[in-house]
Amino acid sequence: MDHIIFLVALVSVPLLALHYWRTREHDPKEPPLIFPRIPIIGHALGIIRHGVPYYTKHSTLYPSQPVYTMDLLLNKSYIVNSPSLVAAVQRNHRVISFDPFLTGAANRMAGITGPGLELLREEQNGGRGINNKVLHSMHPALLGTGLDRMNEKMIKFLKLSVDELATTHNVNTSFDLHAWCRHAITVASTDAVYGSINPYKEREVEDSLWTFESRLTPLLVNIMPSITSRKSFRARARLVAALVKYYEARGHENSSELTYNRWKVQHDAGATTEDIAKLEAAAGIGILSNTVPSTFWTLFDIYSRPSLLLELREEIRQNGLVIEPDTGLHIVDLASIRDSCHLLVSSFQETLRLRSNGAPTRVVCKDILLNDQWLLKEGSILQMPAPTINRQPVAWGDATSDFNPRRFMKDTSQRDMKRATAFMSFGASPNICPGRHFASGEILALAAMMILRYDIAPESGIWRPPMLNTKAMAASVTPPGEMFLVKVHEREEFKGDKWDFRVMEGRGKFSLVVG
Ligand code: HEM
Ligand SMILES: *[C@@H]1O[C@H](CO)[C@@H](O)[C@H](O)[C@H]1NC(C)=O
Ligand SMILES: *[C@@H]1O[C@H](CO)[C@@H](O)[C@H](O)[C@H]1NC(C)=O
Ligand SMILES: *[C@@H]1O[C@H](CO)[C@@H](O)[C@H](O)[C@H]1NC(C)=O
Repeated sequence: MDHIIFLVALVSVPLLALHYWRTREHDPKEPPLIFPRIPIIGHALGIIRHGVPYYTKHSTLYPSQPVYTMDLLLNKSYIVNSPSLVAAVQRNHRVISFDPFLTGAANRMAGITGPGLELLREEQNGGRGINNKVLHSMHPALLGTGLDRMNEKMIKFLKLSVDELATTHNVNTSFDLHAWCRHAITVASTDAVYGSINPYKEREVEDSLWTFESRLTPLLVNIMPSITSRKSFRARARLVAALVKYYEARGHENSSELTYNRWKVQHDAGATTEDIAKLEAAAGIGILSNTVPSTFWTLFDIYSRPSLLLELREEIRQNGLVIEPDTGLHIVDLASIRDSCHLLVSSFQETLRLRSNGAPTRVVCKDILLNDQWLLKEGSILQMPAPTINRQPVAWGDATSDFNPRRFMKDTSQRDMKRATAFMSFGASPNICPGRHFASGEILALAAMMILRYDIAPESGIWRPPMLNTKAMAASVTPPGEMFLVKVHEREEFKGDKWDFRVMEGRGKFSLVVG
């Protein structure tokens, strides 16, 4: 139902768009315009329907085109395909900036308006620049000392979820692997982030976040969202209400450095609790919406390759597992996984390389000549789609669409990768994802313990990838849009053994490839 209203709202836009289209001129020095099949509104419709994969389709139609222009009705977007232009964008990060995009997210995704939005808005456009300060306040928690605290808590809950598979899901019950990953990761991450009165402990709050997340695109279009995207709009409101309650009960005071710092920067700048809660609801998407599908696809890509699975089982058994002699406790050691399970860490990055449909987005703040060649105009958007850049032969060699679990190996003789500016899955410098170590620790710990303890078999008998949910616009790693039913068997080798994880102080950071 909300779809129909949404489409009606959408078709009222073209008249306006036609006006823009006719009056706007395209400078010959700008990247060439790519025309949509359906005139005028085709690109906007395509992106709404297909998400970022829509860019890839065009990029494969024009493979030798390093950058081109797409008209998105109200804005024009430059789509960058070439790693050397990514490097040029990085060099010009003050002019081709991430910050205005953050303001847009605070408005459309979090629903913040009025003085609250001006507080968050970037300084170069007359705001107080608080959004940027909030982002920086997260760094100690995600890249410094706070990471150990968060990992310790996260991993306790992860263990409970993996243990539970041996008891509640027996050989005769099949379940949706994606839904299982979603719950396991939500519980573990939010406990670490929000502390003792974590609002996501309530199933209704967890479900609200995922309703909000999985139907985000209509909300971002932002044409009367309370009508055109009622489900996600209401889910967001429930989530915000739960977070307001959390702050009023002073939950942030006994949480994590991450949550406390985010609250403090906004509170000290004069933000209302309501607005802090709104920004935090959107932050929930940032924390979870990539980690969950990355977990799902990591398991999928490994378990669907029996010989890789065996190799990894051997690697983890030898290098990542410690069996305590006196208690018999089986311990999966996160630091050893990081330092010694190279094939596992490499496979994970290969999954991110091929499964990322993200497109790091920037706003052009002043006219600029990129690489002395391409004119980019003020007010336009620039995007660097991972599906294209992550597969460019100049950076990745031949067969770039093949899953090669050794592509990211430390040992450079096995490694098949030429330049890091071609890896968009964690974004592009200087806005590289600061949550990558936390997420990697979580995903790799879960995968390692699963690989040792369980076999997974799809109910259908074949590992056919499920359809994708292209409306989950915030997830750069696109989640499944349908159930993927599996049966899980506890392996004989370790049947009945007691398990735990171990994290070691100061060793939570992974040396991952970033763009
Ligand atoms: C596998 C999981 C994850 C993936 C694939 C991922 C991916 C990304 C990507 C593509 C960006 C955009 C950067 C750009 O535009 O250049 C980003 C930014 C960001 N991510 Fe993640 N992310 C993950 C997990 C997390 C987690 C767990 C957190 C927090 C706990 C987090 C926090 C952030 C933040 C705060 C930013 C904004 C960075 C900035 O502007 O400086 N991410 N992430
Ligand atoms: C997009 O278009 C709107 C309306 O024409 C304009 O106000 C805005 O500055 C443009 N750029 C971005 C990044 O939204
Ligand atoms: C699974 O089902 C079979 C036959 O339906 C039954 O014999 C067996 O006991 C069941 N196993 C479990 C663990 O429930
Ligand atoms: C703070 O959180 C810890 C666990 O996260 C909990 O054990 C403790 O009781 C909490 N303290 C207060 C005062 O709520």
